[in-house]
Amino acid sequence: MSFPTVNPTETASWKALETHYKALASKGMQTALTGNESRAKAMSVSWQDFFFDYAKNRITEETFSLLMDLAKEVELKTAIDMQFAGERINATENRAVLHTALRNFDAMKPEVSQTLEKIKQFSEAVISGTYKGFSGKPITDIVNIGIGGSHLGPEMVVEALHHYSNHLNIHFIANVDGDNVQDILSNLNPETTLVIVVSKSFTTQETLTNATVAKNWFLQKASKEAIARHFVAVSMNTKEAVKFGVAESNVFPMYDWVGGRFSLWGAVGLSISCALGYHRFEELLKGGFEMDKHFQTTEFHQNIPVILGLLSVWYNNFFKVETEGIVAYSEYLHKLVPYLQQAVMESNGKSVDRNGTAVDYQTGTIAWGDVGSNAQHAFFQLLHQGTKWVPTDFIGFSQSLQGNTKNHNILMANFFAQTESLWEGKPADPQNPYTGFEGNRPSNTLLIKKLTPKNLGSLIALYEHKVFVQGVIWNIYSYDQWGVELGKKVARGTLQAIVNQNPDQMTNSSTQQLLKQYLQDQAENK
Ligand code: F6P
Repeated sequence: MSFPTVNPTETASWKALETHYKALASKGMQTALTGNESRAKAMSVSWQDFFFDYAKNRITEETFSLLMDLAKEVELKTAIDMQFAGERINATENRAVLHTALRNFDAMKPEVSQTLEKIKQFSEAVISGTYKGFSGKPITDIVNIGIGGSHLGPEMVVEALHHYSNHLNIHFIANVDGDNVQDILSNLNPETTLVIVVSKSFTTQETLTNATVAKNWFLQKASKEAIARHFVAVSMNTKEAVKFGVAESNVFPMYDWVGGRFSLWGAVGLSISCALGYHRFEELLKGGFEMDKHFQTTEFHQNIPVILGLLSVWYNNFFKVETEGIVAYSEYLHKLVPYLQQAVMESNGKSVDRNGTAVDYQTGTIAWGDVGSNAQHAFFQLLHQGTKWVPTDFIGFSQSLQGNTKNHNILMANFFAQTESLWEGKPADPQNPYTGFEGNRPSNTLLIKKLTPKNLGSLIALYEHKVFVQGVIWNIYSYDQWGVELGKKVARGTLQAIVNQNPDQMTNSSTQQLLKQYLQDQAENK
């Protein structure tokens, strides 16, 4: 069995979708749901604590069935099975893609169980205070230093599940922006601070720079021997972590079969386990696992990630819509969009297919958004009346966490009202052309019972699988990230030019000019 390499545009279903699109492109569907219960019923899926409604999409039964055909023709099922079987489907890096193995409680790899046990022991000792700093005091603050996948996932989850958090203060340092590092560290006490350096490679410039700043800050108050008590690492590169000063027993492993942007389920989640307690971390993993089973075993026409992925392809490749909105009606989820931006865009921002050929169709969508209802007072004007439309996922929860039902009802009334108004629109008042809403603007609704660790785990896994589905259809490799390398390389040369005060080292005259200005401004700052 080999991983499918089907050019989607050469399939019969793609061609049929092109024809079908022409018939549907200018069709107004604003009234499709007026008094039509059967559409709403047919285009929704109830799964565990999730209710997924995709009835407000510019699709008909025929569209849906053609999209299902497309999934078959690109051999999506084979692709899913190969991923879960641990085949090396990340062929450009010759690696398996097994973040799902980090949460497979039915058949857990021994190394995964061992790591979970290590996370459990360590986080419980830190939380209970039996783990002490060099001067005998318990830990009060944890600083997670890492960037990209070594930051976005843990930060998003810690923020999203803040309601369940304990007494520990968790801080995140990702940016190499020195002002930010100084700001965070200056409010902390080295005696009671634990630093978790998270880097799969342990070579990432930003992370190592920040970790060194933290180490120097620490050494102003503590001895070299104390580093091992206050710095732990999450990495595949034990050698470099130990060189940095971390005790070998305090290096939590990462695996080459888990990509950075999908790594929060393993040791990268150490800060999550410290913030919430291990049992909650495990609930998160179990939620992810439940979604894995749904994705792997449910028929495509009831399979939430499959449907979401196909709808996205429908808009991206036929309507030529370039962006997708994600709006969660929960302040706790304010880091969800940056997290998903890496998952979506680092994975599917590719332009060479799995046959090594440049694609001649659109791939990766641009993911963006914010939380609701705030976003209604920011960019929703464009969603309602702009010249471009943005298919948007609305994510909301039926139950509030703190029991403030009055506010929650207002929040959720807005949630429901937005998808309806985007879809139905409204004619302009006779005297005022500016008051018209075209409508016909699609959205998906994910109504989830409650923001619990388990449901958050399922939600994250849902998007992971959606990204996978899209990548399979577009015939691209979703699990490498060659596109981030060039900038890193050029930055090394640029830094040399800055340190040597030699802008002429750069060959690009615009960059040269900018560096001259930069160095001049810096000289004035002395
Ligand atoms: O920016 C590219 C990238 O490799 C991401 O994919 C990754 O999550 C991030 O850098 C951090 O890498 P590391 O964990 O090796 O420090």
